[in-house]
Amino acid sequence: MKTHQNTLDISPDNDNVGPVSCLGLTFEDEQARREHFMALLEAKLQDPEFRKTPGFPQGSNEAILRMSDPPYYTACPNPFLDDFVRCYGNPYKQEEIYEREPFAVDVSVGKTDQLYKAHGYHTKVPHLAIVPSILHYTKPGDIVLDGFCGSGMTGLAAQWCGTAPLAYRQELESNWQAEGHEPPEWGTRRAVLNDLGPAASFIASGYNLPFEIDRFADKAEAILDELERDLGWMYEVAHTDGRSVGRINYTVWSEVFTCPECTGEIDFVNEALDKVTKKTRSSFPCPTCGALLNKDRLERKFESYIDPMTDEAWKRIALRPAFINYNVGSATYERPVTDSDFKVLARIDQLSYPSDFPTAEFPITEMYHGSRLEPKGFSRTHHLFLPRAAHALAAIWRKASDTSDVATRRMLVWFAEQAIWGMSLLARYAPTHYSQVNQYLNGVYYVGSQIVEVSPWYILLDKNKRTSKLSRLIGAFSPAPTSDGCVIIQTGDCAALPVESGSVDYIFTDPPFGENIYYADLNFLVESWHGVMTASAGEAIVDQFKKKGAHEYQTLMRNCFTEYNRVLKPGRWITVVFSNSSNGIWRAIQEAMGAAGFVVADVRTLDKKQGSYRQVTSSAVKQDLVISAYKPTESLQKQFQIGESSSDGAWAFVREHLHNVPILVGSSNEIEPAVERTAQMLLDRMIAFHVQRGISVPLSGQEFLQGLVQRFPERDGMYFLPDQVTNYDRKRTTATQLRQLSFFVNDEHSAIQWIRQQLQDKPQSFQDLQPQFMRELQAWAKHEQTVELKVILEQNFLHYDGRGPVPSQIHSYLSSNFKDLRNLDKEDPKLIEKARDRWYVPDPNKQADLDQIRERALLKEFEELKESTQRRIKQFRTEAVRAGFKACWQERDYTTIVKVAAKLPETVLQEDEKLLMYIDNAQTRLGDDA
Ligand SMILES: C[S@@+](CC[C@H](N)C(=O)[O-])C[C@H]1O[C@@H](n2cnc3c(N)ncnc32)[C@H](O)[C@@H]1O
Repeated sequence: MKTHQNTLDISPDNDNVGPVSCLGLTFEDEQARREHFMALLEAKLQDPEFRKTPGFPQGSNEAILRMSDPPYYTACPNPFLDDFVRCYGNPYKQEEIYEREPFAVDVSVGKTDQLYKAHGYHTKVPHLAIVPSILHYTKPGDIVLDGFCGSGMTGLAAQWCGTAPLAYRQELESNWQAEGHEPPEWGTRRAVLNDLGPAASFIASGYNLPFEIDRFADKAEAILDELERDLGWMYEVAHTDGRSVGRINYTVWSEVFTCPECTGEIDFVNEALDKVTKKTRSSFPCPTCGALLNKDRLERKFESYIDPMTDEAWKRIALRPAFINYNVGSATYERPVTDSDFKVLARIDQLSYPSDFPTAEFPITEMYHGSRLEPKGFSRTHHLFLPRAAHALAAIWRKASDTSDVATRRMLVWFAEQAIWGMSLLARYAPTHYSQVNQYLNGVYYVGSQIVEVSPWYILLDKNKRTSKLSRLIGAFSPAPTSDGCVIIQTGDCAALPVESGSVDYIFTDPPFGENIYYADLNFLVESWHGVMTASAGEAIVDQFKKKGAHEYQTLMRNCFTEYNRVLKPGRWITVVFSNSSNGIWRAIQEAMGAAGFVVADVRTLDKKQGSYRQVTSSAVKQDLVISAYKPTESLQKQFQIGESSSDGAWAFVREHLHNVPILVGSSNEIEPAVERTAQMLLDRMIAFHVQRGISVPLSGQEFLQGLVQRFPERDGMYFLPDQVTNYDRKRTTATQLRQLSFFVNDEHSAIQWIRQQLQDKPQSFQDLQPQFMRELQAWAKHEQTVELKVILEQNFLHYDGRGPVPSQIHSYLSSNFKDLRNLDKEDPKLIEKARDRWYVPDPNKQADLDQIRERALLKEFEELKESTQRRIKQFRTEAVRAGFKACWQERDYTTIVKVAAKLPETVLQEDEKLLMYIDNAQTRLGDDA
């Protein structure tokens, strides 16, 4: 072995023959490389301290080593990860110029792609959806990180940037050109992938590490052929012609119940399934007493066994085979189960249960879906398999695991694990579907009353079908989308990544969102086969059974984002895909990102009808979002390191933020104002930036507004850096339409934004505005005190009462919309008459005066809330609480913030990121962050 100075060759045709370089070392061949790192990992696993690393899975050293292929994949925290980044990454250079605008991702792209479908996971973002984003933010050789990698699509996307076929490149380039983007720099990026679940990281390893497809395909077929020789008899059936022997595709099993009237047996499939319509009847007669029954009335019947693996007494719901679907040659038949079939089943029952079958006990009391399993008698993993399926699956797994070549073995196990759910009792018979492959209910452990027990060949390799799992897999990986040394994967907690600070170029991530999916629980079954299980304590989810509420979720997410912030280079970007419609979870994510040090620059949602992105302007989320945020540059961070604020620092922040947010949003002919550039949004961001760093806000709202106008040119209600404004003006003149932002009016804050938008374009009277305003009010939040339109107008806008010259805002509207009012003097009586009684948006200087008056009124209301002796205040004016909290923050009166918060409804606070930001930080200041 000799050391090697150069970085690794990442060309896709690195065929693993001859000397290989890895982490700065050169080895004779892959085998030598593996032996070297395997020995290091084995030694490391002996160290008890190593096992204390957060997120370390539960499993023996042997099981962890069997799954791993170090240094590129370890089924535990990866001791080589830091070396990988140091060896192949580009060190951070402050002087390097890096400028990018936020980039939106269309997560719906690529869902039909073969590679995407080659291995399922509970939720997936297709690699083809991620590729454009990686191309936009990085250059070849850069390091991309995904700490919640799941099936590892980010790694595949990073590699695809180098291996994408010509047609793909041409299409992307022409789309980008049409949208006004420069063409990307093609070439492989390196990826660092992490997931808490060994099942997930193992899928990621299969997707991202190279293997020889022909060797894999030959071996997979050989295994299934051997299986045929060894266990084929279990799936043989006598055809109805009395002569031919058929091969079972699947057997449909029925749950057996008893009748509540006569206690007679009810075979659910026989009685409830309508063979003609293939639908389950909502009611059916009892075959014994004729009573009309439905599923809810049936009583569960149990059968007692001796558990073949534990030798303990075991009671499970009664199941009976109903009919079989089989093939004779290429013809498919279906018939009820007969004596000859029962004989085969009895013969299988006589065999001893496969001794290597996983028997792990489900952590029922800590599982969200535990109550679906245990009452039916499924408390251990092997309980979910009928004996025949258990023999077949164990044999496949054994044969796959016995393969000596590591890469081939990995893929064979990868292939075999896709049959685990589908061959278990979780697979429901789906009579209206053509295929019975993998018909289990996604995201839940549910054993139905109509079960399909598929044969291994039916699920994995149907030689007659090119659509079989194996053919698809071979198709998907030809040509190989991966090459050596581009991706490193570990199993661990995203909150503790063994990567040097400031070393990652870009993060793409799709974290768990609240309580949608219980990954650790769901991975338990597959992980029991590997013998390595998720350390679920660190799992960032909301799960009442694991005692994790919204607060715990937020803390876990904050820890993960803090780690993301630490490892990312300053000035670089993170893209977060958000797919949950809970406002509370959305708020928790924003809070976690801000507290971690990120600044959100853009939030968009895909407008499915238009096929384009729209900015998200309210805190109510209904659809999938894409959040783009950046880590502030080193020079900006330095200004805040001493823990004190200054107006210079605040303006430096605004400048950096304006530098990073999009100049315009939308396509070249239809643009939308960039929300992030509006005064209100900039003010909110500036305040949050300070509060999240635990320092006072150096500018009042009025000072901010005045300063903004003095420092930055304004267009269409948005502020720009001087060098951006010419670019905006140019694009604005070529765009045919300036689209309005859509506001969802549910509180005073959004009402003000909505009115501003109406009056900006068209100053109007109270009478004109009111009916439109009433229409918008349909979704007013319950806890939000009603604020009259009149009050909102008086506190935020100006009224022209006909005295003095017509204000320029009204003048320009009237003269450009009414021919006869054109070119009139501002004091012309005709113009005054038409302008009288209209409300309009003040210019920024007047706005500052108004804000001052409004703030005084709001603080007065806050005082009332503060003094209120009510223990719980159900309805209040959120704007008053915001203004009050801000004032308290400035005066370091953290106690009042916490005290007032205690009177407000928890559910409301959970959804209001502005209020929670103050409360969280005030609690931290008071040393009460429990
Ligand atoms: C939404 S999924 C990611 C799916 C992925 N985008 C894909 O395409 O397959 C979120 C993942 O986060 C993992 N996870 C949850 N908590 C974690 C933590 N603290 N650290 C790392 N991973 C975690 C879960 O195991 C799950 O695989």
